[in-house]
Amino acid sequence: MRIEDPNVVAALSELGVELRCSASLAKLTSLAIGGTTDLLSIRKHESIPGLLSLLDSRGVPHRFLGGGSNLLVDDGELPWVIMQLASPDPDVVLEGNFAQVDAAADLGRTVTYCAKHDLGGMEGLIGVPGTVGGALRMNAGAYGMQIGSYVREVTLYRAATRQIEILRGEQISFEYRHTSFAPDDMMLAVKLELPSKPYKEILQGIRICNEKRRSSQPLGQKSAGCIFKNPPGASAGRMIDDLGLKGLSVGDARVSERHANFFVNAGKASAKDMLALIADVRERVRSAFSVELEHEVVIWNA
Ligand code: EPU
Repeated sequence: MRIEDPNVVAALSELGVELRCSASLAKLTSLAIGGTTDLLSIRKHESIPGLLSLLDSRGVPHRFLGGGSNLLVDDGELPWVIMQLASPDPDVVLEGNFAQVDAAADLGRTVTYCAKHDLGGMEGLIGVPGTVGGALRMNAGAYGMQIGSYVREVTLYRAATRQIEILRGEQISFEYRHTSFAPDDMMLAVKLELPSKPYKEILQGIRICNEKRRSSQPLGQKSAGCIFKNPPGASAGRMIDDLGLKGLSVGDARVSERHANFFVNAGKASAKDMLALIADVRERVRSAFSVELEHEVVIWNA
């Protein structure tokens, strides 16, 4: 989708929002899949209510992109513009055991920065790609921990009220890869409360998690992490593996040889290829185990 109306272009510039024409989503997602559209880079949270009013009044459909690491975007010219937060400097401010973190901050760098200041708890998240905002929305977790446990306050833009609001941790429910945020809420910042731990000890935990991840996940390849959620009491990866589906491909979309719940883009996979592979695997799991696998990856179909 193109923003061509000069009045809208001028209004964006007044709001301090940068317009990048014809951005490639393949370059903005870890799967390296996705078509093109105009991208709006937001430098100041305060400009968001004005930006959303502008887009809505002009009938411009829009989506909000985080780090693009858990996302499968359709091919071709996309029917919505993309909004993305630019990361401020600094993006993490520490005060005692609290870390005030911008949603655009890189998750891994945030974990490391806090660790260097003797704040731990999030060691398991060290290899999870993406932004803090994305991790928050999905309640990212690994190795027995989840980010939701440390959330004390969230600053967000609520489409329902058209305002920037602050929610206390108790007002949000964090479940397995799911939160009570509305689909059109935009995460802007989070206050985490992290336990004090000596850096050396945190580093040891980080090393163990890194090692586990390296040995079981295809880290160097283009993927969106796990494609399916684990059904209660079971492992989607093990079920897909048990069916002998590692290496199964549609075009360049392939079930990873290392972890069967990771589907990789082994070359020039299209969204069509990846969606067909997802549907095929889902169907095979359904017929073999009578289990309906749910997507963990977020899918943006045009
Ligand atoms: N397994 C297989 N074959 C495979 C993959 C796994 O037999 O191809 C077996 C493993 O040997 C193990 C069991 O399945 O006995 C579970 O595997 P693993 O420890 O890798 O954990 P997982 O349940 O597959 C979950 C999360 C990961 C997270 C890891 C580590 C989900 C869907 N996946 O994977 O998160 O990194 O635990 O905590 O919850 C993600 O969210 O994108 C993600 C990758």
